[in-house]
Amino acid sequence: MGELALRLDAVSKAFGGLRAVDGVALAVRPGERRALIGPNGAGKTTLFNLISGELPVTSGAIRLFERDVTRVAPHRRAALGLARTFQITNLFPTLTVLENCLLAVQALTPVKFSMLRPLAAYHALEERAREALAAVGLADRAAAVVRNLSHGEQRQLEIALALAGRPRVLLLDEPTAGLSPAESHLMADLLQRLDPAITVLIIEHDMDIALEIAQHVTVLHYGRVIADGPREEIKANPLVREIYLGA
Ligand SMILES: Nc1ncnc2c1ncn2[C@@H]1O[C@H](COP(=O)(O)OP(=O)(O)O)[C@@H](O)[C@H]1O
Ligand SMILES: [Mg+2]
Repeated sequence: MGELALRLDAVSKAFGGLRAVDGVALAVRPGERRALIGPNGAGKTTLFNLISGELPVTSGAIRLFERDVTRVAPHRRAALGLARTFQITNLFPTLTVLENCLLAVQALTPVKFSMLRPLAAYHALEERAREALAAVGLADRAAAVVRNLSHGEQRQLEIALALAGRPRVLLLDEPTAGLSPAESHLMADLLQRLDPAITVLIIEHDMDIALEIAQHVTVLHYGRVIADGPREEIKANPLVREIYLGA
């Protein structure tokens, strides 16, 4: 199978008596686009929190490029190439698009830039920030103040912030949440145009969008993987149709 970008073995998370994530196994190849779907409360966001290290696992193992990171701190996982967005926006609304991005670049790679002289460091930061903005189609909005952006543009900026550290694995938690159908399809296009070397895991509530972006889908229900396979297989899976689509 070759080296995996991400591998989970029997990962569980209990909140008191509730097993929010229950014995999840996952194997994601480098460059894969994987959708994680399932009803509200299925444990999708919790699983992201375990992968990024925001929450400790109750049991199980998490590997990033074959390296065991189960007990590695979130900022160390970020340094190993992991980035994520949150279901809830965390932008600085009174700063410009470029300023938000500069802060993210600087926060994600402080050492590299501190080794340069101030002006050179600023140019390197700005180049990286503009590259991330270009990747999400916001190059010409760099000078705009964030609170004046449309909701769709704010979601694009969140992805730029995650790209700022040049991640190898990107976790996106409902990037189309709150977007209009037209904005959602724009977002799907944007995600399909990301550097194919980046491994992308995307939690997506809208089945159509999930299937548009990802070739491979994992379905979570009550914390467990109930189906995992190519999108055509998932679309046709009777259990998935019953649980997820209510068909
Ligand atoms: N920090 C927490 N403390 C207690 N229960 C939690 C916490 N986070 C999530 N849960 C519970 O875990 C379950 C899964 O939640 P979540 O991962 O947010 O689901 P999803 O993202 O699939 O909608 C839910 O029942 C939720 O109420
Ligand atoms: Mg969630």
